[in-house]
Amino acid sequence: MLSRQIASRLQGLETPFYLYDMELLRQTLESVMSAAKRYNYKVHYAIKANYDPRLLALIRDYGLGIDCASGNELRCAIEAGFDPKTIVYAGVGKRDKELRYAIEQNIFAINCESIEELQVLNRLAAEAGKRVDVALRINPDIDPKTNHCIDTGQADSKFGISYEEVLDHAAELQGLENLHIRGLHLHIGSQIRELHVFENMCLKVNSIVDYLTRLGFAVDFVDVGGGLGINYDVPENEPIPNFASMFAIVHNHLKVGDREVHFEFGRSIVGECGELITQVLFTKTTATGRRLLIVDASMTELIRPALYGSYHNIENITSEEELQSKYTVVGTACESTDVFDENVGLKRTHRGDLLAIKSAGAYGMSMASRYNLHDLPGAVYSDDL
Ligand code: LLP
Repeated sequence: MLSRQIASRLQGLETPFYLYDMELLRQTLESVMSAAKRYNYKVHYAIKANYDPRLLALIRDYGLGIDCASGNELRCAIEAGFDPKTIVYAGVGKRDKELRYAIEQNIFAINCESIEELQVLNRLAAEAGKRVDVALRINPDIDPKTNHCIDTGQADSKFGISYEEVLDHAAELQGLENLHIRGLHLHIGSQIRELHVFENMCLKVNSIVDYLTRLGFAVDFVDVGGGLGINYDVPENEPIPNFASMFAIVHNHLKVGDREVHFEFGRSIVGECGELITQVLFTKTTATGRRLLIVDASMTELIRPALYGSYHNIENITSEEELQSKYTVVGTACESTDVFDENVGLKRTHRGDLLAIKSAGAYGMSMASRYNLHDLPGAVYSDDL
């Protein structure tokens, strides 16, 4: 990845920071948009993955819309210049003030996740004197074959409305005069690497569209969410995810006539363009013989390993040594789970060396916290180096 090639230019910068490879992001955006164009698919960027303003500006320039999950994400997208008519807003628990703001903005669709949310939205829309475009987020009951912490579409999940509830309330929902229920939304989970899962998803979507139309709902568009995974193991092998293969699968299996098809990609857009660059503060060996590298980043900059047991490939980008050793890479936070990885094979490492924690562009900075009153990490963009 980029950091190894430009390591000498990174030395002396204040660590830890996120390094963004803007050229890789451009190529990724080019790839997703040209593959989508073939089928006239609409692509939204899931802003929760990373709301860095420089990344957002580029994403906007390539013509993607936004998928947001809170009023503040919606505001951030609007302030970054995204056309409201390309914005969708999902979220299992939207506050009244967030719904009011979304109503004012005239966005493409508010994706509603419960019957009660639809009732409340109808009332707030009436107060605002508007009729609001809405999609029903249906819980598809599907196993995405990913880390259980990030699946979202199984029957027991908190996300979406169950088939039964839609059935029980169909007539009532169709009578909500200030809502224009226009679409179907679902999202089955994240970091999906087995592409055949998307085939199963399409079969489910076909039957849900059928179900909703039989119940009397108009379904003008289907939004199938995001979820395409990236190669955390060896990012160099696949810096740009295979959007074309995913779209081909959807094209071959989704039977929704000439309805618009929307996607909401987060990780696959920005995951590989970001690396967390951190410096080794100290090295030491535990009484049990574990060789520790204590780095100046921690779970406050990148929580994925501590929260989900997620793997990120780590490389020492400044060591000139030939020999390798095995290390456990730990952060500075006062938590025993603040471990980036164990038994990592790295070039012999010393205080002051820089490590790159790769594939950290998605759900890295956006999930950073100020625990232990750490500063939030900075950002360095390849275009400026
Ligand atoms: N649409 C909806 C409704 C979502 O909930 C999500 C992600 C996406 C789209 C984008 O999914 P993606 O293309 O990035 O897979 N923090 C976790 C991931 C949580 C994903 C939440 N929802 C992680 O670090 O793995």
